[in-house]
Amino acid sequence: MDPIDPIVIPENWTHVLSIDSIFPAPAEETRSLAVDVGCGKGRYLVAVAQKHPEMNFLGIDRMRSRMVKLGRKLTRAGLDHVRLIQVEASYAIRHLLPENSVSVFTVFFPDPWPKRRHHRRRLFRPAFLDDLDRAMKPGAQIHIATDHLDYFESVVPLFEADSRFDSIPAYEPTEDERTEFEHIFAGQGKPIGRASFAKRA
Ligand SMILES: C[S@@+](CC[C@H](N)C(=O)[O-])C[C@H]1O[C@@H](n2cnc3c(N)ncnc32)[C@H](O)[C@@H]1O
Repeated sequence: MDPIDPIVIPENWTHVLSIDSIFPAPAEETRSLAVDVGCGKGRYLVAVAQKHPEMNFLGIDRMRSRMVKLGRKLTRAGLDHVRLIQVEASYAIRHLLPENSVSVFTVFFPDPWPKRRHHRRRLFRPAFLDDLDRAMKPGAQIHIATDHLDYFESVVPLFEADSRFDSIPAYEPTEDERTEFEHIFAGQGKPIGRASFAKRA
């Protein structure tokens, strides 16, 4: 049997995705869904999917070339519980993911948009927390990492001021889970800000 293309192309981009239908035959019990936002070349996604065959994974990235290369890598590795979607992340989280569907979000090294006039392009804004809250299951977690400490210092208070989320110990990736960008920034000796939050049950 030919391998399934991991890249999901929704029949209708304005409808909520049927998560069960994009993954292989649903298991007897509902699988947890982890979503990697801005998955890039997918080093984290591949490492974590290899360790968790009992979960489903969705990588979101707007860059076509990265999705295509990562799709080939997933097919070669036989990781058929990972799917990719090439789309703007806030659109996907607001409109495509079902309510209460996600157990883990990861957002590693989101574009920092350092210039003040570009800050409105940043992913983490109050409306994005509304979208996350809608998509997350009660108790679901979000793990964030960035080398851009100014961005980091604006993200943490957003969550801390929001009664829908609790601060939890920051997720520390294992060596194999460190992303391509983490390797670049670590090589430059940059400090990395990490934070994790859980949606209140
Ligand atoms: C700095 S890279 C980090 C990639 C990966 N997470 C890592 O740590 O190596 C940011 C990635 O997020 C994607 N990206 C940035 N903003 C996005 C958005 N609004 N929607 C979807 N993808 C986005 C970019 O295309 C890029 O692949």
